[in-house]
Amino acid sequence: MAVISTQHTSLNAAAAALRSGQLVVFPTETVYGLGALARDDRAVARLYDAKRRPQVNPLISHFATAEAACDAGISSPVAEHLATAFWPGPLTLILRRHTQSPTCLLATAGMDNLAVRVPNHPLALQLIEATGSPLVAPSANMSGKLSPTCAAHISAELAAKCAFILDGGPCSEGLESTVIDCREDTAIIVRPGPITPALILAKTGLKIGFAETPITSDGKVISPGLMTSHYAPNATIRLNATSARDDELFIGFGVPPDGVTPDLSLSQTGDLTEACALLFSLLHDADSRTRHIAIAPIPMADLGIAINDRLMRAAAERP
Ligand code: TXA
Ligand code: MG
Repeated sequence: MAVISTQHTSLNAAAAALRSGQLVVFPTETVYGLGALARDDRAVARLYDAKRRPQVNPLISHFATAEAACDAGISSPVAEHLATAFWPGPLTLILRRHTQSPTCLLATAGMDNLAVRVPNHPLALQLIEATGSPLVAPSANMSGKLSPTCAAHISAELAAKCAFILDGGPCSEGLESTVIDCREDTAIIVRPGPITPALILAKTGLKIGFAETPITSDGKVISPGLMTSHYAPNATIRLNATSARDDELFIGFGVPPDGVTPDLSLSQTGDLTEACALLFSLLHDADSRTRHIAIAPIPMADLGIAINDRLMRAAAERP
């Protein structure tokens, strides 16, 4: 069973556990990660097993510096530009592998590329430095379930399989990193997240779009094949709701319609940054209280694109 710790003195013990092939949960600014030594096949196999994650789904490698992250693969001018602008921060870059890449092939599902990121959280950076090696870290949830944004969200099933849970309080961003494929000349967003196209344009002048959007501006699914169930609570989810049915718990956003009092609110002022930070936390909370959740519409703009991406997957038909 994991030692749950808020003490910095546990860092060295947690780093030693990682070096010996064990798993450690640690906080990042996005969500909590389930860490393992990136170069250690057996540790990575243990991680896939612990999360019950299909081995075809590759992992992100986490580094303490942008230089180390860019050196792990074949970098490019676009990748360097994004790295300089946003690391440490909620951004993941996909690069081509090279023969010296410090991430084992199992962690990248045998592919000739790898995903790298420098998290913006002191505990995460200190842990990577103390370990002396990059860490792969998927979100610290069982595969397909809600992502954890505080230590209390880690399921007992997962906690039983790791040596430490480092508690760094609630995650500031609350949503997984934006993933950008930088392997071709034209970089492209393959997972929407806190770093939006508008933010990228403002900070770098680069115009980067989405790979293929599975949802339209009015929330309809374009390609059902892309809409696999993920980030799912146990409760059912009904999107774009204006009020709750009798058996539903209602999560609002912004000013509710007349006569409607939401049970919970992602942001009473309609602030998307606040909604991002609270999303998984409110879904965990609602899931512990009800079997059916209804959620108010979230605008399909800026951060709303990433929020709707997660909500559509949470609401998708379960396997
Ligand atoms: O914010 C985050 O990115 C968090 C924290 C812990 O760092 N991590 C995270 O990892 O969300 P995970 O495993 O839950 O999601 C990683 C996503 C998956 O959708 C995976 O398929 C994709 O990134 N991915 C990872 N490596 C890839 C690669 N080489 N090529 C394409 N997609 C990749
Ligand atoms: Mg995940």
